[in-house]
Amino acid sequence: MKTQKTIGFLPCLLAVFFLLQSPAIAVKKSYVVYLGGHSSFGAEPSALTDELRTESQYELLESWLKSKEKARDSIFYSYTRFINGFAAILEEEEAQEISKYPEVVSIFPNRGHKLHTTRSWQFLGLEEDGKVPMESLWTKARFGEDVIIGNLDTGVWPESESFRDEGMGPIPTRWKGICQKDEDQKFFCNRKLIGARYFNKGYAAGGGTVNSTFNSPRDIDGHGTHTLSTAGGAFVPGAGVLGFGNGTAKGGAPRARLAAYKVCWPPVNGRQCFDADILAAFESAISDGVDVLSVSLGGEPSPYFSDGIPVGSFHAVSNGIAVVTSAGNSGPAVGSVSNLAPWLVTVGASTMDREFPSYVIFGTERVKGQSLSMESLPKNKLFPFIQSMDAKAANSSLQDAELCKIGSLDPEKAKGKIVMCTRGVSDRVEKGEVVKFAGGAGMVLANDASTGYEIIADAHVLPATHITFADGQKLLSFLNSSKSPRASITVPFTALDTKPAPFMAAFSSRGPNAINPEILKPDITAPGVSIIAAYTEANSPTDLTFDKRRIPYNSLSGTSMSCPHIAGIVGLLKSAHPEWSSSAIKSAILTTARTHDNLKEPIKNSSLSTANPFNYGSGHVWPNRAQDPGLVYDLTIEDYLNFLCALGYNSSQISTFRPYNCPEKTMLLEDLNYPSITVPNLVNSITITRKLKNVGEPGTYSARWRNPKGVVMSVKPTRLAFVKIGEEKTFTVTLRMKNKDDAKDYVFGSLVWSDGYHDVKSPITVKSLV
Ligand SMILES: *[C@@H]1O[C@H](CO)[C@@H](O)[C@H](O)[C@H]1NC(C)=O
Ligand SMILES: *[C@@H]1O[C@H](CO)[C@@H](O)[C@H](O)[C@H]1NC(C)=O
Ligand SMILES: *[C@@H]1O[C@H](CO)[C@@H](O)[C@H](O)[C@H]1NC(C)=O
Ligand SMILES: *[C@@H]1O[C@H](CO)[C@@H](O)[C@H](O)[C@H]1NC(C)=O
Ligand SMILES: *[C@@H]1O[C@H](CO)[C@@H](O)[C@H](O)[C@H]1NC(C)=O
Ligand SMILES: *[C@@H]1O[C@H](CO)[C@@H](O)[C@H](O)[C@H]1NC(C)=O
Repeated sequence: MKTQKTIGFLPCLLAVFFLLQSPAIAVKKSYVVYLGGHSSFGAEPSALTDELRTESQYELLESWLKSKEKARDSIFYSYTRFINGFAAILEEEEAQEISKYPEVVSIFPNRGHKLHTTRSWQFLGLEEDGKVPMESLWTKARFGEDVIIGNLDTGVWPESESFRDEGMGPIPTRWKGICQKDEDQKFFCNRKLIGARYFNKGYAAGGGTVNSTFNSPRDIDGHGTHTLSTAGGAFVPGAGVLGFGNGTAKGGAPRARLAAYKVCWPPVNGRQCFDADILAAFESAISDGVDVLSVSLGGEPSPYFSDGIPVGSFHAVSNGIAVVTSAGNSGPAVGSVSNLAPWLVTVGASTMDREFPSYVIFGTERVKGQSLSMESLPKNKLFPFIQSMDAKAANSSLQDAELCKIGSLDPEKAKGKIVMCTRGVSDRVEKGEVVKFAGGAGMVLANDASTGYEIIADAHVLPATHITFADGQKLLSFLNSSKSPRASITVPFTALDTKPAPFMAAFSSRGPNAINPEILKPDITAPGVSIIAAYTEANSPTDLTFDKRRIPYNSLSGTSMSCPHIAGIVGLLKSAHPEWSSSAIKSAILTTARTHDNLKEPIKNSSLSTANPFNYGSGHVWPNRAQDPGLVYDLTIEDYLNFLCALGYNSSQISTFRPYNCPEKTMLLEDLNYPSITVPNLVNSITITRKLKNVGEPGTYSARWRNPKGVVMSVKPTRLAFVKIGEEKTFTVTLRMKNKDDAKDYVFGSLVWSDGYHDVKSPITVKSLV
């Protein structure tokens, strides 16, 4: 898996790793071996049972491999607490053999996964110009006091001011975690950052080269510090990036306690977070006592029983922990969303109402881009302006020159000029470095048609600005029509209350759900573009090796950044409503989300066309509403297990999650009590059941709905009266196909239950069987 942010330093690292990798192709591979649930499921774990369980796992492998030594050497993790199994290095034939033993529930390769501020909380309504309004969820949740938020990521930079513990009381006694310093004695925890651990055996088994510096939870990448501080960083006045976006930095739950689980390391073949480590981290987080886990990483869709994230998170959710994940940065491709299991909250990314405008001035006109570049061009001077293709190096392809890839520009042709490069393939900041290296005076980075209007403010290393596709076209026709075109780039500044906001980021991965399309993914969207949060001082803001700058706060973009926004809000809701289940919290967030922007128009995608639930799920998070949703669609662990039965998983696959006998009658997949309704293959009609639970005042709710095109909905009954808290009422929704041709591709409607004050909204997504 990889962390899900859009900064793409992978290509150059990749090349290096391929060189290092190629000679030794291992015969042995690492696997995760599942042995079903522990018999005393949910009992208080102890060191003694850990030891006994480890021992019995060794004995089992010994008997299978018929060698004591081989077994001792090959196991590198023993999961003894919630997950029964181990991770081991085995030959392929051995793995094949082992899979046949009746004790073995499943065996799957230890695969790698990829990793996928200051203004966003005001944009979300939690604060207003530094004040906390009465209706803010922060008030009711006491800023998330004493909720414990963990993240699985690249570790943490403990020295960051966002993790200072001034004014925090003693660590909650239920906390059982540790501060794993090992080879990094300067590492520390405190009453804010209460725990940190690292997991690297799965990485080493997956091909990573580790040395003593890997025995530390310290974040030398920046990603983990950024995500953890976004979820729960303390208030830090005067934070900003290179003088931009000044303000008080803070996380969503500023008074939460934090714990870092380092599972992501420098990429090996583009993979950096391995299943065996992810499972070990989930196990530790459960026994340490975290309340919320933020997981900004993901891989390709795979069956739930053979992937560390769905398996580990199922155990976490079974133990009352809410798990929030990122949707991925593979958008806007259809069906690109990752983290598909229904027990996860899966988060897309969108913009907020802050920009860092930097204009390109040309002729008598100008176009607005965005940048965080500290470099400026002399005022009142225009520079020769060219397309990067016109500075192509003799030994480069036109395509590489268009993208300003390393070595593609000729200094003779670029020197002293402003060069326009096209976005894509290589890192955005690296393109600027290429122009700078070729002696260019500045860079204009233009989107291609696929990225449209989404522009990202980066800390470029030369005067540079990032512009939309449409503006790029304007500049092209200016270039076409002028004999000696000249231009300049203005110094960026911070602009607030920009419109429209939010709109969806082009990179945000899109539905439908590739594994089981009956579950809408992503679930929700949150700010994920140009997010300012704490950063490591062991890496440059751009993640590129030539960049020698070190800064305490950085601006990053990606679904990795939107995920911890939701994790922070989940933490607040856990503080405000400790009695709510994780699914009730998820329902509260989803049914209260908004689908309109700050112009009161439907939320747009990055080409400024109307977006839909495959972009944003239920919509854009509205935390103050989520604290009082009125009604929730709740779910139990049994509901999820029945759902797995209905998906066709057999009993041994299901016992990867928990020993369970499927009911005789298989449920309809669409009947999972999810806060959205999705029907991927409608023939004639379908009747779906849902159950609402009252978590507010007594009241009578009426249904209203908007039919998807070509489909007619009916709801029974259309009124539900709740007289007490916790009361549950069932209703059905029938979807009837009226015009098949209208619904050849997905069509969208909605259902709202309203008592006049609370609106409990669900998107309806339907496609006819073709
Ligand atoms: C450990 O490995 C890292 C990353 O490969 C490298 O940068 C560092 O120099 C190594 N340190 C030691 C002490 O070998
Ligand atoms: C932000 O802070 C920096 C450094 O303190 C300062 O130079 C800059 O002018 C400030 N910007 C704004 C917009 O306040
Ligand atoms: C082209 O040649 C230059 C100078 O020899 C070199 O630095 C650059 O990397 C080469 N570019 C490519 C794409 O091979
Ligand atoms: C600029 O000119 C080129 C070739 O003359 C043409 O292909 C292109 O469409 C023109 N672009 C614009 C935006 O006018
Ligand atoms: C935005 O939506 C329109 C209409 O559905 C679509 O054609 C376009 O490709 C979308 N753009 C992006 C970036 O998703
Ligand atoms: C369950 O399904 C898997 C994969 O199809 C198969 O290998 C296994 O034998 C099945 N187990 C049982 C108990 O049916």
